[in-house]
Amino acid sequence: MSSTAKQSVRSYQNYINGKFVSSATGETFAVYDPSTEEVIAQVAAGGAADVDSAVKAARAAFDTGDWGKTSAQDRGRILFKLAEKIRANAAMLSELECRNTGKPLVEAEYDIADAATCFEYYGGLANKVMGQTMPVPANGLSFTLKEPMGVAGQIIPWNYPLVMAAWKLGPAIAAGCTIVLKPAEQTPCTMMEAARWFEEAGLPPGVVNIVNGMGETAGAALVAHPGVDKIAFTGSAAVGKIIVKSAADTLKRVTLELGGKSPNIFFAEADWEAAVDGALFGVFINQGEVCSAGSRILVEKKIYSKFVEAMTEKAKKIKLGPPMDRETKMGPLVSREQYDRVTSYLELGKKEARVASGGGRPKEFAKGYYVQPTIFCDVNNNARIAREEIFGPVATVIPFENEAEAIRIANDTPYGLAAAVWTRDIFKAFRVVKAVRAGIVWINHMQPTYVEAPWGGYKQSGFGRELGPWGLEEYLETKQVFVNLDETPIGWY
Ligand code: NAI
Ligand code: MG
Repeated sequence: MSSTAKQSVRSYQNYINGKFVSSATGETFAVYDPSTEEVIAQVAAGGAADVDSAVKAARAAFDTGDWGKTSAQDRGRILFKLAEKIRANAAMLSELECRNTGKPLVEAEYDIADAATCFEYYGGLANKVMGQTMPVPANGLSFTLKEPMGVAGQIIPWNYPLVMAAWKLGPAIAAGCTIVLKPAEQTPCTMMEAARWFEEAGLPPGVVNIVNGMGETAGAALVAHPGVDKIAFTGSAAVGKIIVKSAADTLKRVTLELGGKSPNIFFAEADWEAAVDGALFGVFINQGEVCSAGSRILVEKKIYSKFVEAMTEKAKKIKLGPPMDRETKMGPLVSREQYDRVTSYLELGKKEARVASGGGRPKEFAKGYYVQPTIFCDVNNNARIAREEIFGPVATVIPFENEAEAIRIANDTPYGLAAAVWTRDIFKAFRVVKAVRAGIVWINHMQPTYVEAPWGGYKQSGFGRELGPWGLEEYLETKQVFVNLDETPIGWY
């Protein structure tokens, strides 16, 4: 199918208390296909009033509904059912995700399968949450109960829409929380399709609510709402800081996943083919719109020139094209706003460093937010293009002399989400792993992410962890219970 095939404009509402409803104001906003710049959906523009209805529904479902009586196993079954529906509708969801984000169809197919896998993982984990007993003195018994945190507000980004929703909904439902989720305004489509299955999957009204809208209105109202116990956010560091400040007023629990400027480190003895490929994959997958993008490529001086040359040669062959084409390896950026942001960094980069390849808009597309995969070389780590998250297909290549310098440069960043090291020297590999301040470190790979393993950052990449049992823990409170086994009075007074 060609991406230029005309599609009818879809229409999505909010999902509150088990019903699809328009926004309180009746307003909608447009959602685009970034490869054609055409409107593909009109979506309810939620604001403070819609958030308030959703939070009230979530609050009631948590405080007085039957949700608290569902067994952990039944919550697991709901998650399995959601996964089943996603898998059964994978073709439709992949196509929609592809069309809405601009990512290649092949990548969208991975994403949709990943979202289902995440629901399955938390479906299985739901009834494996256990407390502990503590060795208090013999006249007492002390143990912990793990309890849901309450109403969770979840704000997600546009780069992996349904995957990000699954990472947040999965553990929250498993824990027994109730939820108000706000999709990214650029990419609400797949979430709203999946919301149609909530009831059939067994979610009672009010347990999961979806409010669409802008970050500054709907998102901000969710963060400020006194009925919300916890905020889970993935997005920019700038918004993360706003959220922490706003959440302070009601002392909400907050977890943040904020992206980074992750180093991908190449030593001279690394496997050559794998290394060149890994450098490109690390930074260009998903158009570079990846929180863990290996956007700082650190290369040992001994191999530096040859490495830049090899990367450049391969980067020039990356197939840009309509995301629905199966041969396409890179689609357009998600939005006009992101295109403007990334191209402004390209202009800045031309002043700060040398362009090895790319550097602008590819000539072959009349429409769409396409940007050439761009490699800046001879970059100083103090340059803005090496310090600020660009979130597009833009690599900065930085030479280093030796291991100590590689580590120093790798850590010289306000961020700490991810890092990777490429070498065949196992001693060096593990020394670097221990020295790098980042939440995820790959050896001889970059980007694979598994639902079983924790995900999250050090430093200004945020706090808290998603995925695995760590992700579930973020939705749980710990209650300590002490039982007095003495039948005699305390006898103090
Ligand atoms: P953003 O951080 O503004 O948006 C992410 C989510 O937060 C969206 O759902 C948005 O509606 C919401 N939001 C925005 N302002 C808010 C507020 N004041 N209160 C509550 N929620 C709010 O990201 P944006 O503007 O789309 O992209 C800007 C930059 O952010 C990108 O260039 C990239 O560097 C970074 N980013 C990082 C992501 C990651 O995975 N860590 C994902 C998306 C963007
Ligand atoms: Mg923003």
